[in-house]
Amino acid sequence: MSFKPATWPRRLRSQEWYAGTSRDTIYHRGWMKNQGYPDDLFDGRPVIGILNTWSDLTPCNGHLRELAEKVKAGIWEAGGFPVEVPVFSASENTFRPTAMMFRNLAALSIEEQMRGQPIDGAVLLVGCDKTTPSLLMAAASTDLPSIVVTGGPMLNGYFHGERIGSGTHLWKFSEAVKAGDMTQEDFLEAEQSMSRSSGSCNTMGTASSMASMAEALGMALSGNAAIPAVDSRRRVMAQLSGRRIVQMVKDDLKPSDIMTRHAFENAVRTNGAIGGSTNAVVHLLAIAGRVGVDFTLDDWDRCGRDVATIVNLMPSGKYLMEEFFYAGGLPVVLRHLGDAGLLHKDALTVSGTAIWDEVRNAVNHNTDVILPVDRALTQQGGIAVVKGNLAPNGAVLKPSAASPHLLSHRGRAVVFEDIDDYKARINDDALDIDETCVMVLKNCGPRGYPGMAEVGNMGLPPKVLKKGITDMIRISDARMSGTAYGTVVLHTSPEAAAGGPLAVVRNGDMIELDVPNRRLHLDIPDHELDARLKEWRPSVETPESGYAWLHQAHVEGADTGADLDFLKGCRGAPVGKDSH
Ligand code: FES
Repeated sequence: MSFKPATWPRRLRSQEWYAGTSRDTIYHRGWMKNQGYPDDLFDGRPVIGILNTWSDLTPCNGHLRELAEKVKAGIWEAGGFPVEVPVFSASENTFRPTAMMFRNLAALSIEEQMRGQPIDGAVLLVGCDKTTPSLLMAAASTDLPSIVVTGGPMLNGYFHGERIGSGTHLWKFSEAVKAGDMTQEDFLEAEQSMSRSSGSCNTMGTASSMASMAEALGMALSGNAAIPAVDSRRRVMAQLSGRRIVQMVKDDLKPSDIMTRHAFENAVRTNGAIGGSTNAVVHLLAIAGRVGVDFTLDDWDRCGRDVATIVNLMPSGKYLMEEFFYAGGLPVVLRHLGDAGLLHKDALTVSGTAIWDEVRNAVNHNTDVILPVDRALTQQGGIAVVKGNLAPNGAVLKPSAASPHLLSHRGRAVVFEDIDDYKARINDDALDIDETCVMVLKNCGPRGYPGMAEVGNMGLPPKVLKKGITDMIRISDARMSGTAYGTVVLHTSPEAAAGGPLAVVRNGDMIELDVPNRRLHLDIPDHELDARLKEWRPSVETPESGYAWLHQAHVEGADTGADLDFLKGCRGAPVGKDSH
């Protein structure tokens, strides 16, 4: 930790718009004054953009306008000038073809909103899955002082007396209906019980994982990740974050000071300890790419490999975020990692101090929710990166959500050329498949879908489910919802639409998955694989125009974060020319 605060007072970038008596300055200030702002607000104090991903169509962030008021209160108290700015909001549960296709568009638009407007720092008000990485990517690219405030998870869901989790039980109940173990009426009744309050998914899905990643990276105040959306302490957190960002601007404490290689290593180990989402892999790689930290898929495997999953939350375990908060939340996990020698203790956070200073006294209030290591869900909790002739650049799997007996398995491939092919045939009892087979899905990667949809956890065929089987190996270039589970190999790179070996797998090929040895092998001779790859021709249509064209033309592979190639790197926030 070698950060030295800048001297204060000094001239901030917002003064390029607001200082002086020129015609242009009067133009900028004058129009702002139509909102009733007094003259002294333009006197050189930090102008803080509250970048708000509120949207009626992003229900997980539906309460963020109220939360923004608490952020504003904190900024006023600390002597800043808050300005609330609506930004691109991609809802995981609504956006088609998939919110992931718009993560980079959101990051691009928000980066330019930060750069092109008179703000000196930003509060990133986020929640639903893609909103957190897209704003962190934008903040990394501009390197303006920024702090994350998440909206917090929903309260626990309950159905017929049982705890039910966002997403996780949607998949479970859907399979139960297909297997004949649940009625459609009960499924509809359960719909009412899953989302009891404002907030993001209450499982350790992608939203909770990314909230935890933001905290582990040091980009949010300690304790932010787990506070339920409707708990009064969530509003306190928002207000404190508003106060803090003003001082961060005065100190010039930037994302690049915080998101160092050590911070990413802390985040990866944290993801292993919490049983976090596989989606965190692509998002952290993309954020690292923006801030200029050389962080690879192999680093993910190396850092996460020996981390035990100690957070007993769905989809890997049995509790939900509400219990995680009551147990002490992420600070307890970070303290555990520190005690185990798995945390870079001196990593800097938005608070301006080392992460260890914030968590060293954290207390675990429930050892059934945050488990001791000898009762961990799995001792190898990190995301496993498997490689081989089927995934030369790597593929990922979450061991804590997988079936142990399938982690080393050889089976016959049953191939679906794309998601429509899968949907058309999976319920057909004539499909030649049993539980020993390996389901293979192609053309669902960043380019192929396009956008890398969360379809990798393909539902099993009904005839297998009816035998009481609940898991099979599934391999694809898609992603999987962080709330999902199963022995699911994801992000296979290069993807099928880019001509990766996945594209040439055929029905009846034998596939070997060997997670302990990190291997994924298509058991055909090398010359046969070469011949098939030579014959391969793209089958995915190329969009003719619009953002879909831009995305498909420039998106990189999942193994490097699926960012657009021309957006990687930090471009800073230089003040451009005036327009008048
Ligand atoms: Fe928005 Fe899960 S769908 S947080």
